[in-house]
Amino acid sequence: MKIEFYKHNISQADIANAVEVMNSLFLTTGETVEEFERRFSQYLGLKYTVGVTSCTAALHLSLLAYGIGPGDEVITTPMTFIATANAVLYAGAKPVFVDVEPETGNINADLIEDAATSRTKAILPVHLYGQMCDMKKIREIADKHHLAVIEDAAHAIEASRDGIRPGQLGDAACFSFYATKNITSGEGGAISTNSEEIAERLKKLRLHGMSKGAADRYSKRYEHWDMEMLGWKYNMDNIQAALLLNQLENIEQRWQRREQICRLYEEAFMDDSQFACFKVLPNSKSARHLFTVQVHPERRDKMLWQLEERGIGVAVNFRAIHLLTFYKQTFGYERGMYPIAEKIGDSTITLPLYPKLSNEEVQYVIKVVKDVTTS
Ligand SMILES: Cc1ncc(COP(=O)(O)O)c(C=O)c1O
Repeated sequence: MKIEFYKHNISQADIANAVEVMNSLFLTTGETVEEFERRFSQYLGLKYTVGVTSCTAALHLSLLAYGIGPGDEVITTPMTFIATANAVLYAGAKPVFVDVEPETGNINADLIEDAATSRTKAILPVHLYGQMCDMKKIREIADKHHLAVIEDAAHAIEASRDGIRPGQLGDAACFSFYATKNITSGEGGAISTNSEEIAERLKKLRLHGMSKGAADRYSKRYEHWDMEMLGWKYNMDNIQAALLLNQLENIEQRWQRREQICRLYEEAFMDDSQFACFKVLPNSKSARHLFTVQVHPERRDKMLWQLEERGIGVAVNFRAIHLLTFYKQTFGYERGMYPIAEKIGDSTITLPLYPKLSNEEVQYVIKVVKDVTTS
């Protein structure tokens, strides 16, 4: 049996939506993007969304919108994709890592205050695999030290914790519509916020700092536009928005199927001493973006190859960032500095998780994972 690591869920209706845009006059940022932004904000219970080309762009622009730049420090986690920390560097600031909780892999909020200095300007928590960080605690610390909170919610569109959803306690939340994400346009991203001022600034920053986008220039009598600040070229286009709009309609149905699959995995691995799994905490709804098991670090890499040989697509999300060559060489990080993140990074394996996966395929994955652990 061959089980892909990921299969997307783009439907004929999604494709028809994109074709409609392609048959129309306007391909770049216009009404379809605005409609997606409205509907995404509504879904999240937030006031504003700004569509961009990736979550990396979303993180970069959010940091800029909150005035973070050279000389500033941003507290984040080493247990994430490199995009999170790289975006801090794009803004000219320094990422400062704080170790994670062993039960969830999320940033340990109890360690954040110790890492804060007079240069700290923001906290950038990542809702790992779809489970939210302790946003109440993080907000409290941020308020005490006058810091912005920018959430990396790339994994967490459908998540909530203590009744709070991404972006509701943070100042802005950044989302990814990358090829393997819960809804996708191949590439794409968004920032959602309750601040009108920040949303307006983000709209300029995503398009060279221009005072008018192409749609404004087209729909009204010609008037000169101005460049008000240095921006980037990160605007979402109408084709991406058209692909995303329909997927948003049945996002909860697809979440339910991933939830079922995760429960099958949990039943199989939770009580088996060869494996460790993260827990979904009480009062928490995980968006169920990725499912991982942790195995003995000495066996991990061999298991990845054995699983691939038996036709199962796997990944590693993530090896701890501070141990990657660039970060070690640039900042002098060493093994031992963030031990929990290192342990997760050395022992984690991500298993296939997507709505198209059948129960039979899930059972096959479980069987092969258990076989190769004891072989
Ligand atoms: C936690 C996290 N943050 C940010 C990103 C970057 O997303 P994008 O590929 O849309 O830039 C990813 C991508 O996988 C991610 O996993």
